[in-house]
Amino acid sequence: MKPALTLKVVLASLLSAPLLWLAWRVQLDINQPGTGLGPDAGETLVHYLGEWSLVMVLIAFTISPMRRWTGFSGWLRSRRMVGLFAFAYVVLHIASYLVFYLNLSWQALFEDFVERAYITAGMLAFFCLLLMTLTSTRGWQRRLRARWYQLHQLIYLAIGSALVHLWWLTRDGYLEVALYSLWFVLLCVERWAGSARFIWRTGARQPPG
Ligand code: HEM
Repeated sequence: MKPALTLKVVLASLLSAPLLWLAWRVQLDINQPGTGLGPDAGETLVHYLGEWSLVMVLIAFTISPMRRWTGFSGWLRSRRMVGLFAFAYVVLHIASYLVFYLNLSWQALFEDFVERAYITAGMLAFFCLLLMTLTSTRGWQRRLRARWYQLHQLIYLAIGSALVHLWWLTRDGYLEVALYSLWFVLLCVERWAGSARFIWRTGARQPPG
C-alpha cells in the first residue's frame, strides 16, 4: 500500500475509535441502563462528544504542521478526511444536546442561543466549520481559487470560538481547557513563524497558501 494511503487508513481507524467506544457503551446502556453511560446518559453523551469534537478540530489543525515537521506530503491528502471527521463529531455533539437537553425544541435552541454566551460561541464555531466543510471539495477549491485559502482561514475563528465556548462553560478544573488553548496557541505561533521566515527569505508579500 502507498504510504499516503496507509496513513489515511491508520488515521481513519484512530479517529473512529472514540465513536466505536461510545457505540459499545451505548449498547451496554441499552441492555442494562446506567452501566455504559452512567446515571445521566444525555449529559455523558454531550460531554464526551464535545470533548472529542474539540480534539478532532485541533488534530485537523495539526495536519499542515505535520507535513512541515516530517517532510512527508502525504499528510495533506488526509487533511480533508480529518476535517470531515471533526465536523461529524461536532454534528453529533450538537444533535445530542438538541435531543437530550432541549427535547428537539427549536424555540429553546433560539433562547439558549440568545441568552447563553457559551452557546452563541459554540454556534459561531459550528457555522465556520459548516462553511469550511461545504467548500472543502476540489470543485469549490477550483471555483474560489485564492479566495478558498482566505475562506479556510475561518479555522482560526472556529477553534478560537470553540475554546471560548469551553472557557465559558467550565466552572472548575481549568487545566484541561488551558492545555487545549496552549495546543492552539503553539500551532498558531508555528504557522506565523513559518510565514514570517518565508516572507523574510523570499521577499514575497504573502506566504503561499
Ligand atoms: C466546534 C464546535 C464545538 C465544540 C468543539 C464544542 C466542544 C465542547 C466541549 C469540549 C464541551 C465540554 C465537554 C466537557 O465538559 O467534558 C462542550 C460542552 C457543551 N457544548 Fe459544545 N462544542 C461545540 C459547539 C457546540 C454547539 C453549537 C452547541 C449548542 C448549540 C454546544 C453545546 C454544548 C453544551 C450544552 C455543552 C455542555 C454544557 C454543560 O452541560 O455544562 N456545543 N462542548
